[in-house]
Amino acid sequence: MPSHRSAAASLLAAVWLCLGVALLGVGAAPPRPSSSCQRDCGGVDIPYPFGIVDSPGDSSSDCAMPGFGLTCHETDVNGGRRTPFYYEVEVVDVSLQQGQARMQNHISSYCYNATTQGMDASEWRLTGTPYRFADTNKFTVIGCQTLAYIEGAHTHEYTSGCVAMCRAESDGDARSALSNDSCSGIGCCQTAIPRGLQYEVEFDSGFNTTKIHNVSRCSYAVLMDASNFTFQTTYATSPRFNTTYGGVGVAPLVVDWVVGNQTCDAARKNSSSYACVSDHSECLDSLNGPAYICNCSKGFQGNPYLQDPEQGCKDINECTDLAKYPCSVPGTCKNLPGGFNCRCPKHTKGDAQNGTCERNHTLGLGEKFGI
Ligand SMILES: *[C@@H]1O[C@H](CO)[C@@H](O)[C@H](O)[C@H]1NC(C)=O
Ligand SMILES: *[C@@H]1O[C@H](CO)[C@@H](O)[C@H](O)[C@H]1NC(C)=O
Ligand SMILES: *[C@@H]1O[C@H](CO)[C@@H](O)[C@H](O)[C@H]1NC(C)=O
Ligand SMILES: *[C@@H]1O[C@H](CO)[C@@H](O)[C@H](O)[C@H]1NC(C)=O
Ligand SMILES: *[C@@H]1O[C@H](CO)[C@@H](O)[C@H](O)[C@H]1NC(C)=O
Ligand SMILES: *[C@@H]1O[C@H](CO)[C@@H](O)[C@H](O)[C@H]1NC(C)=O
Ligand SMILES: *[C@@H]1O[C@H](CO)[C@@H](O)[C@H](O)[C@H]1NC(C)=O
Ligand SMILES: *[C@@H]1O[C@H](CO)[C@@H](O)[C@H](O)[C@H]1NC(C)=O
Ligand SMILES: *[C@@H]1O[C@H](CO)[C@@H](O)[C@H](O)[C@H]1NC(C)=O
Ligand SMILES: *[C@@H]1O[C@H](CO)[C@@H](O)[C@H](O)[C@H]1NC(C)=O
Ligand SMILES: *[C@@H]1O[C@H](CO)[C@@H](O)[C@H](O)[C@H]1NC(C)=O
Repeated sequence: MPSHRSAAASLLAAVWLCLGVALLGVGAAPPRPSSSCQRDCGGVDIPYPFGIVDSPGDSSSDCAMPGFGLTCHETDVNGGRRTPFYYEVEVVDVSLQQGQARMQNHISSYCYNATTQGMDASEWRLTGTPYRFADTNKFTVIGCQTLAYIEGAHTHEYTSGCVAMCRAESDGDARSALSNDSCSGIGCCQTAIPRGLQYEVEFDSGFNTTKIHNVSRCSYAVLMDASNFTFQTTYATSPRFNTTYGGVGVAPLVVDWVVGNQTCDAARKNSSSYACVSDHSECLDSLNGPAYICNCSKGFQGNPYLQDPEQGCKDINECTDLAKYPCSVPGTCKNLPGGFNCRCPKHTKGDAQNGTCERNHTLGLGEKFGI
């Protein structure tokens, strides 16, 4: 579950806003979600195993697998639009085919407070969830005098960290060392994180902005989708980074989700808990340890987690989408379960499905002689 800790460094007080345990979606027999379950929240499609529940962590609803319940409510941030949330984390998009979801991860910050002349920390974590972090994410740290750690939860051991510095003596100009588009330690640092990691941020109090607060008051740290990140010098010297990605204080994160805490081989043995219930679905082992996701078999599309013939994996009628499934002679296209047939024009041979039909020259010659 995500949670937030905000503390004045001098007080060493920690307030955990959210405690509790989200179980992996295992154990219970796959429920059949009722057709009355809400499947849309503010325009975001919420396919099973996800579902809308009344309160975060509610695992009694049959609309979602345990751990996959989202709440749907209005926020100021998105102009009053209804928005799906996993605890306090906004969910932007869910992909069944990729087993991924896009979220808005909270940016942790560490700021000099002129009133108290101390540092204010706002540190976030995202742990105990059915989500693992996709490889496209990087731990991103921004600041002129900062060291942020990414911790494995529970163990409280520093797993990795990132240092960002600027040439910024108390009277110097930190900006001179910064350059746009370059995140390599000056004002900005990014590092990949190990697979399967739980995520918890902590700033090192020995690296603080007390002496450079006129130039760079705040430092930031967040695990985010690095494919959408370009460093701007103003990120290190203003609050701009906090508002770059749509909302306030958030950045995009891609998570891999899994069902079950077993491999496909082990999971298949128990038909009452095996999640890939649709006919024409298949099981894919997770790269992040024992767990799996389901997908429709080749030539089928739909929701592999549903038995329902309407919503489960259904045959793709390739003949109705000639742009995607070319057929040299469209009239000959014949849809088959999981595929399709189509013929080459007369006197040619090859693969009609990818448009590589060619003249059979031997036959051409024979015809000539025949005439
Ligand atoms: C199969 O799954 C069901 C439901 O989760 C569980 O009650 C049962 O113990 C499991 N059986 C085995 C052999 O693991
Ligand atoms: C998998 O999850 C079930 C139910 O939460 C639990 O009883 C079991 O011990 C877990 N197995 C492993 C290997 O973690
Ligand atoms: C699931 O199947 C679709 C279509 O066959 C494919 O594009 C997609 O990559 C598959 N997903 C995974 C995670 O392999
Ligand atoms: C500085 O700290 C005081 C006391 O904790 C707090 O009321 C104030 O909001 C803080 N200022 C800023 C800019 O965060
Ligand atoms: C970086 O780009 C911003 C505009 O995107 C500009 O205001 C700033 O001066 C640039 N910084 C440097 C060092 O070129
Ligand atoms: C800031 O860092 C300096 C040394 O780097 C340290 O002496 C000081 O106590 C730190 N200040 C705070 C508020 O943590
Ligand atoms: C910060 O700026 C204020 C006024 O703008 C100045 O009085 C103060 O000395 C500056 N502090 C530092 C550390 O440069
Ligand atoms: C990158 O961020 C911009 C600005 O928030 C957003 O409009 C765009 O959709 C994002 N692109 C990707 C690939 O996430
Ligand atoms: C960033 O935005 C969040 C959400 O509004 C806010 O709580 C936080 O104080 C902001 N941080 C900074 C350093 O501006
Ligand atoms: C056409 O399909 C055949 C067999 O399916 C394959 O060997 C060949 O490489 C394909 N050609 C193109 C251009 O995709
Ligand atoms: C062309 O057609 C002739 C007669 O039907 C056949 O014997 C021959 O094998 C074909 N050539 C090729 C390359 O398939």
